Parts: sequence; structure tokens; C-alpha cells
Amino acid sequence: MKKATKFTHLSRPPAGLGTAVNYSAARASTLLFERAEDLYRNDIRGYGRHGTQVHDALADMFTELEGGAGTVLFPSGLAACTYPILAMVKTGDHVLLTDSSYGPVRNFCMRHLKRMGIETEIYNPRIGANIASLIRENTAVIMLESPGSLTFEIQDTPAIVKAAQARNVTTIIDNTWSAGLVYNPLAMGVDVSCHAATKYYGGHSDVMYGAAICRTEALHSQVKNIAKDFGNASSPEDAYQVLRGFRSILTRFEHQQASALKIAAWLAKHPKVAQVLHPALPEHPDHALWQRDFTGSACIFSVILNPTSDADVLTFINGLKLFGIGFSYGGFESLAIHCDPQLRRSHSEKLKGPLIRFACGLEDAGDLQADIEQAFHTIS
Ligand SMILES: Cc1ncc(COP(=O)(O)O)c(C=O)c1O
Repeated sequence: MKKATKFTHLSRPPAGLGTAVNYSAARASTLLFERAEDLYRNDIRGYGRHGTQVHDALADMFTELEGGAGTVLFPSGLAACTYPILAMVKTGDHVLLTDSSYGPVRNFCMRHLKRMGIETEIYNPRIGANIASLIRENTAVIMLESPGSLTFEIQDTPAIVKAAQARNVTTIIDNTWSAGLVYNPLAMGVDVSCHAATKYYGGHSDVMYGAAICRTEALHSQVKNIAKDFGNASSPEDAYQVLRGFRSILTRFEHQQASALKIAAWLAKHPKVAQVLHPALPEHPDHALWQRDFTGSACIFSVILNPTSDADVLTFINGLKLFGIGFSYGGFESLAIHCDPQLRRSHSEKLKGPLIRFACGLEDAGDLQADIEQAFHTIS
């Protein structure tokens, strides 16, 4: 079955007389048993924190999405990144984290892993096979994100995985950008693929959710056990909404992908723009890697404006009428942010101008382009 068919037909209750087409979100803390003998069985779910039927159906769908062995669900995308890291480390270990990682993942490593006596070293996302030179005896995890947050570098994932596997190091990737639809890191040997399902799978900017898809049953147990011991649990209503998102994601993804590409290509020739950071554009420095490993692109990209004042940047963003000013992407509505205040990079040169990130929603691409053009007219 192709993805479109799977996303329509899998993780649904068996058809019966008058059954609903989707599982319902059953609210539960207590689960009841018929017999006292069953209370402490390990092979059945005993308590609401351990999930419900709709959680199982959603986890199965994520596992199917990337061909993993199992999925652990989380109440946010950030938790879907931090728990798998935590599952793989102990005091005295060393973690390699891409410079292009989502900022709060960096904060988690620098603040909380540090507190536990685990050192995090930031590496250049474009390091490729040379990552081997950074792997130490105590390196436990290499964390990747491709393309990177805000600056959209593509990593040479197969080369990094090869070096990691040679030294028995676990690889974890933040795969939110591709939604697992146009990039399959597990097939390249990555151990855990993390998703902020808040984005495309939520799809409507009204739910926070995360999923970590594990390549083997052993990795799945490791992540599942730490999540269970730390009290991880997510709302059945949120799980229901994310499963609902699967049903329509391909159509939404394709529309948003096409809009982003059209607008990015137009912006690349715009006199007010110095550079567009979208890996599907031929002029992107990692375009060849993107072409080799990806089968499509997302709704989100950044532009570096020609040098201008901070005031101009704010005026431009405030001048947008269709793009909301707000964080996130993958929802039905377009968004824009100024990236510079949150941009932290240890390995790349300072950008030549202000960085703005656009996320395209489901509006008409021509209307979005016209909106950007009219906002450009508001600045010098
Ligand atoms: C690449 C990436 N990873 C993880 C996250 C965190 O997801 P959440 O907001 O669901 O915690 C985000 C959110 O913006 C993201 O962009």
C-alpha cells in the first residue's frame, strides 16, 4: 500500500454494524479489571497514564510511517526529542549535537545533561563523515536535525550513521521538517526519528504533540521505559486529533510544499533578498545532498534580506497581512518570524543580513506572494 492508502485505512476500528470510522478518544485514569488476578499483569494496560486505544492506534500509524519497530508518544515535540536522548545517556557520557538543532533541544543538553555530568559538544551540521574525528570513547549519542532549524542545512545522514555505527554510538534525528513523508532516516540506519507532531500532523495550530519512532524493538523498549518511569503521558483528545491529521496530511503537505517552493523561487530573484535558504532550490549549498536523500520539501524556509535596520525588519513583518506573526509551521495558516534574536551558531559565519522565516499555510500561493510584496513596499 502507498502512504495515501495507509493513512486512510490503517489505525481504524474494525467495521461493524454502526461503528464510527475512527477510534474515539476515551478519557481514562482508572482502567477496570474483571478479576483481581489481572491487576498486576505485565501484558495488559493497567492505568490511564499508559495510554488508551487511540494512543495505540496513533503509535502504530507513526511506526508504519517510517517503518520502525515501535513508537513512543509524547505531549510535545520537544519531549519527543529530549526523552530519547535521556534514554541513551549516563553520567560521564559525551553527546554530539548539531549546531543547527532546534534551540530548546540545545538548552536541554546544555542545562540538564550538563547538570547530570554529561558533556554536549556542538558540531558543524555540514561535517559529514568527518564526525568520526569527534567521536570519543564515551560518546553515547549523535543528535541530528536535517534540514536544520532556521538555517536549513542538510546533513549527510548516511555518512554520519556509518561513523556512528562503527563506534556503537546511537543516532537520533529531529525529522519534523519532512513529516516523515519525504525523508526516511530509519531506512538510512538512524536509530530514533523524532517528530513535533504539533506541526503537520496537528495541522491546525491547536494541538501540541510528539512522537519518537524507534528502529529496533530494543531501542523502543529503552525509550518506552524511560518515558514510563518519568511519568510521560498525553491526552487522548490530543492523540485523537493527531491521528485525524494523518488522514489528510498528504494533500495538505503537497499544497504547502508547492506554495513554499513557488514563493521561495520568486524571493530568490527579489531585489530586497540576499539569499533564500530552501534546500530544494538549486542554488542552496546542500541541494545535491537534498536531491540524493529527500523526495520532496516542506512548507517552511528562510530568507536573508539585504542588510537593513532592525526597525525595517519589524516594519516588514508587521506589514504582512496574511502571514500571522508567530512560531511554528505545518498549520493551515501562514506564519512569519524574525529569527535573529533566537539564532545561536557556533560553527557558521554570521549571516549577511537579517533572517526571516516563512511558513506557508493553505492559502493561495499567489495571494501569499502578493502579501510579501506589499510588505516589502513598507520598508526603505
Ligand atoms: C524542528 C522542531 N523540533 C521540535 C520542535 C518542538 O515541538 P513542540 O513545539 O511540539 O514542542 C519544534 C517546534 O517548533 C521544531 O520546529
